[in-house]
Amino acid sequence: MKSTHPKKIYLEITTRCNLQCRMCVKYAAGSCIPERDMPIDVFNQLLVSFPKAESLILNGIGEPLLHPHLFEFIRLARSRMAENTSIGFQSNGILLDEHKAFNLIEAGLDTLCLSVDGLQSTVADCDSPGGEHSFSIVAKAVSSLNLAKRTIGSNFKIGLEMVLTRENIHELPGLVAWASDEGVDYIITTHLILYSKTTEDLNLFNPNPLGAVQLFQKYNQKAFSLGLNMGDCITLYRKYAGTRSESVVLDLFSGIQKEAKEEDIRLNFQG
Ligand SMILES: C[S@@+](CC[C@H](N)C(=O)[O-])C[C@H]1O[C@@H](n2cnc3c(N)ncnc32)[C@H](O)[C@@H]1O
Repeated sequence: MKSTHPKKIYLEITTRCNLQCRMCVKYAAGSCIPERDMPIDVFNQLLVSFPKAESLILNGIGEPLLHPHLFEFIRLARSRMAENTSIGFQSNGILLDEHKAFNLIEAGLDTLCLSVDGLQSTVADCDSPGGEHSFSIVAKAVSSLNLAKRTIGSNFKIGLEMVLTRENIHELPGLVAWASDEGVDYIITTHLILYSKTTEDLNLFNPNPLGAVQLFQKYNQKAFSLGLNMGDCITLYRKYAGTRSESVVLDLFSGIQKEAKEEDIRLNFQG
């Protein structure tokens, strides 16, 4: 029978953050994510789902270590969740010291994944009032977690996440070697999601697959033969009323969308 409770629960316990990363959706133009902490009574109402959950992840866009009730949330969740389940979150590690590392593991946290830009890079342009997000912050956080893990004798898992870009990809082999020496349990690498034009130069690949590029070229040739240009089609798409030639461009744009849907081609037009 299908369970009525989720197996994996993601709770964004805060949207506040102590960094302002240029690649982050929170700081993209037009973004309006309010800065809030999840109140404890909201968390308490969610506890009913925890006994059936296999994993609980306590972050979204914000920095979980900023939440004043983080340790209490972990303790409450651990008391409701079954054995061999996992509680974890992702952090930039700035606020992590030996004392907090010890308290997190004691409260019942099973894994913490630290965001890292590379061995030298601060490529994501993550600034905080206290300085930039450097590798030394992550190295200190890993060492605090290792010490707490050894002291408590726990099976706690330390992870790293690196968003790969043109500027930091060459640092990945060195990071893997370092992580292995430090006893890091896992590394997640992801690609950059483009929330802003200002990060386009960091992207490792064209977000449009070859089929999408070919489709666009085919329709752009049609537009060209009519003396038109498809380059502005997204701007035109957002316009309330256009000229006759603009509506021809929009017809061609609908054609691209229709064909892409039929052929299951993913389009990633940027406005
Ligand atoms: C948004 S942060 C939130 C959790 C926590 N504050 C942290 O720093 O890990 C979660 C992860 O998303 C990554 N991230 C931020 N912007 C991204 C983007 N545009 N594309 C892909 N990953 C991104 C960050 O590098 C980080 O590893």
